[in-house]
Amino acid sequence: MGTLRVIIIGGLLEFENRITLFISTGSLELRNVVQKDAGTYRVTVIPAAGPQMVGTTTLTVQDAVSNVTVTVNNTDLVEFNSSVTLSCSASGSSRSFLWLNGSDEVTASDRVSLTDGGATLTISTVRRSDQGPFRCQVTNAVSNRTSEEVYLPIFYGPYHVKMTCPDRLEAGQSLAILCSAESVPAATYSWVFFGKQLVNNSEVLIKTNTVKSDSGKYKCEATNAVTGRSISGEHTLYVEDPCLSDGAIAVIVIACMVIVGLSVGVGCHVYNQRK
Ligand SMILES: *[C@@H]1O[C@H](CO)[C@@H](O)[C@H](O)[C@H]1NC(C)=O
Ligand SMILES: *[C@@H]1O[C@H](CO)[C@@H](O)[C@H](O)[C@H]1NC(C)=O
Ligand SMILES: *[C@@H]1O[C@H](CO)[C@@H](O)[C@H](O)[C@H]1NC(C)=O
Ligand SMILES: *[C@@H]1O[C@H](CO)[C@@H](O)[C@H](O)[C@H]1NC(C)=O
Repeated sequence: MGTLRVIIIGGLLEFENRITLFISTGSLELRNVVQKDAGTYRVTVIPAAGPQMVGTTTLTVQDAVSNVTVTVNNTDLVEFNSSVTLSCSASGSSRSFLWLNGSDEVTASDRVSLTDGGATLTISTVRRSDQGPFRCQVTNAVSNRTSEEVYLPIFYGPYHVKMTCPDRLEAGQSLAILCSAESVPAATYSWVFFGKQLVNNSEVLIKTNTVKSDSGKYKCEATNAVTGRSISGEHTLYVEDPCLSDGAIAVIVIACMVIVGLSVGVGCHVYNQRK
C-alpha cells in the first residue's frame, strides 16, 4: 500500500488526543465522539503506482436520550367527566415515543389519542381503570430511556349504597346501621328518619336502648365532595316488644300472657304464626 492521507473537513485541533489513523488498513478511529464530529470524511489513497483513489463517508452523531419527563395537565379527574393530557419531553436526537400503561403499550382508540409524534397522550372521558401507572419510553438509534411512573388519581362515585343493619330489633336493644358506598375520595354520610335530619355525619348510625317508635324508614345519603354526586339508600326497621323476638317464643308467649294479659299474648301468638 502507498501513502495514506486523511483530509478532515474541519480543523484538526478539535481531534487532538481523540484520533488514531491506522496506516496499514486505512481506518480512522475517533474516540469520545461529540456532535461537532458529524460531517463528511474523505480519504485519499496514493498507491506506489497507479492513480489516487478517493473515498468519502458521512458520519452522523446522535445524542443519547436523557431527561425523560412526563407532565400531566390536570389532576382533578372525575370519572366519565374529565379529560387529561400527558406530555413527554426528552433530550436527545431523533426520538420516538412509546407510552406504557402498566406493562401494556398504549394504543389510540375512540377515547385515547396520540399526537406530536406520540409525545402527547390524551385520554378523554377518563375511567377509573385509567389510573396507570403510565410511563413514556423514548428511543433513538443509540439509546432508550423510560420516564418515572405517573399515576392518575381518578375520582368517582358514590355508587352502590349498601346499608347493613338488622330488619328487626327487640325494644331495649341497641341499633347500629352501617352505610357504605363505592367512592373516591370516601363519601360523607347523612341520615334522615321520618323526614328529619339526624345529627350524625358518620357512616354508622348508633342508637342505644331502642323503643318501638324507632321503627320506620332510615335513609342514608352518601355524598362525594369532589365529584359532587349524592345517592341514598333506605332501610326499614321494626322494633318490637321483647316477646316477639326469636328464641323460645312459645315460652315467652306464655310469660307475656301471664304478665301482660291475654290481648298482648294473642298479638305475640299471631305474629309468631305469621313468621
Ligand atoms: C430536563 O427537562 C426539564 C424540563 O423539560 C428541563 O427544565 C431541564 O433543563 C432538562 N435538563 C437537562 C439536563 O436537559
Ligand atoms: C387538559 O387537556 C384536556 C385535553 O386536551 C383538556 O380537555 C383539559 O381542559 C385540560 N385541562 C386543563 C386543566 O388544562
Ligand atoms: C390502562 O389499562 C387498563 C387495564 O388494562 C385499561 O382498562 C385502561 O383502559 C387502560 N387505559 C389506557 C388509557 O390505555
Ligand atoms: C433499550 O436499551 C437497552 C440497553 O440499554 C436494550 O437492552 C433494550 O433492548 C432497548 N429497548 C428498546 C425498546 O430499544
